[in-house]
Amino acid sequence: MHTHATTYAYRASLLDFVADPHNEKQAARYLEDGVLIVENGKVVETLDYAALSAERRQQLTLVDYRGKLLLPGFIDTHIHFPQTEMIASYGEQLLEWLNTYTFPTERKFADAGYARKRADFFINELLRNGTTTALVFATVHPQSVDALFAAAQQKEMRLIAGKVLMDRNAPDYLQDTAQTGYDQSEALIKKWHHKGRLLYAVTPRFAPTSTPEQLALAGKLLAKYPDLYLHTHLSENKNEIAWVKSLFPERKNYLDVYAHYGLTGPRSVFAHGIHLEQDEIDTLAHSHSAVAFCPTSNLFLGSGLFRLHPLKQAGIKVGMGTDVGAGTSFSMLQTLNEGYKVQQLQGEKLSAQEGLYQATLGGARALQLEDKLGNFLPGKEADFVVLNWAATPLQQLRMENATSLGDRLFALMMQGDDRNVQATYVMGKQVF
Ligand code: GUN
Ligand code: ZN
Repeated sequence: MHTHATTYAYRASLLDFVADPHNEKQAARYLEDGVLIVENGKVVETLDYAALSAERRQQLTLVDYRGKLLLPGFIDTHIHFPQTEMIASYGEQLLEWLNTYTFPTERKFADAGYARKRADFFINELLRNGTTTALVFATVHPQSVDALFAAAQQKEMRLIAGKVLMDRNAPDYLQDTAQTGYDQSEALIKKWHHKGRLLYAVTPRFAPTSTPEQLALAGKLLAKYPDLYLHTHLSENKNEIAWVKSLFPERKNYLDVYAHYGLTGPRSVFAHGIHLEQDEIDTLAHSHSAVAFCPTSNLFLGSGLFRLHPLKQAGIKVGMGTDVGAGTSFSMLQTLNEGYKVQQLQGEKLSAQEGLYQATLGGARALQLEDKLGNFLPGKEADFVVLNWAATPLQQLRMENATSLGDRLFALMMQGDDRNVQATYVMGKQVF
C-alpha cells in the first residue's frame, strides 16, 4: 500500500522574522489570519488562509488556532539544567552564590537516577514555556549529560549541551582533571554529537575553574571535531574579572584567556559579556563568537547592565538566555520583559519586534542554526509555539486597549509568561 505523508495546516496569526528589526524595516512578517503548512516535521510554507484553495484544503489536516499567535519556538542560548531546583536562592552575588548554593546542588547529579528525574522536569519546563531549543550546562558528571540528552531525544528536540570542565577552584567533589575532562567529553561527543538533532558543546565552566592545561585540551577537542560548540561564561561580575586577571596575568584581558586556547569562533557562545573592554568586543566580533544576554540573571545577581545595541552594532551575534538558576524564570517573555528594563536603565529601547526577533531568529543565528531554526521559511524544522494574547483579566484589559500590532506585542512581551503558552510543537509534533 502506498502511504502519503500527512500535511498539517495550522491556522492562526503568524509572526516571524527574516532579519533583525533593529536594523531593517521589512524584518517582521505578520499574517493576521494565516496558515503554517507542515509536512514531515518541516515547514512547507506560510500563507494567508484566504489564499488556500478549496482543493488544497481537502488534502490538509487543518488545526484551528484562530485568535492565537503562532511564533517560531523560543531559543534559550544559556541555561543550567541542574540549577532548576535552586532558582531564587537569596542574597549573594556570583562567586558567593556559586559556593553557597550552586556547587552543593550540582553535587547531587553524581547520582544518575537523580539526574534523570531532574532532566525530565527540566525538558518539560522548557516546553511548557514555549522554548524548543536550548544551549545547556549540565554538571561535571558525564551521567548528567546522558540524562539530559536522553530526555531531549525523547521529545526530538534540537538541544546543545555538554559536561562541565572544572579542574581547580571548586570543591573536590565537583572536580575532574584536565585528562579525565578531555576523555569524558570525547566519549560524550562520540555518543551524542549529531545523534538525531542533538549537538555537543565543550563546556569549561569559566576561566577561574580550569587550569591552562584543561583549557588547552578544550581547544584540542574543538580542533579535532570541527562543528562542536564552545559554551562558557565571560565578564559577568567585577570580582570574577579581577580573579581572572590574577590567575592569568600573562593575558591581555578575560576573553584573551579563551582566545589564547582556541576557544573563540562561530560556534562559541559566551554567557553575559557585561563589562567588556573594547579589545574584547573586537575579538568577539572578528571571531564571529556569540554572546548570551541573560537579563533576569544579571539583575538577580546584581552583575550589571548588558550593552545590547553597542555589542550588536559592533557585529556581535546576541542570543537571549534565561541562565536559570541565577536567572529567575524559564519564560522567554519574562526574560524579554527584564531585558527591556535593562535597556531603559541605559536610556535605550527594546521593542517587542526586536525582543521577539532576539528570542527566535537572533538565537538561531547566535547558535549558527539559522539554516534550520528561527523562522517559518520553507524547509525549516517545524518547532513553534502557540500563544494566547491574554491569559489573565489584566492582560485581557490591556489587550483590549492596545492601539496597534506593535502595542499588542509589547503588552504580550511585558505581561506574558508560561500562562500564555497554549501549545508547543517540536518537529511538527505537539509536545505540550
Ligand atoms: N559563572 C561560572 N559559573 C556560573 C554559573 O553557574 N552561573 C552563572 N550565572 N555564572 C557562572
Ligand atoms: Zn550561567
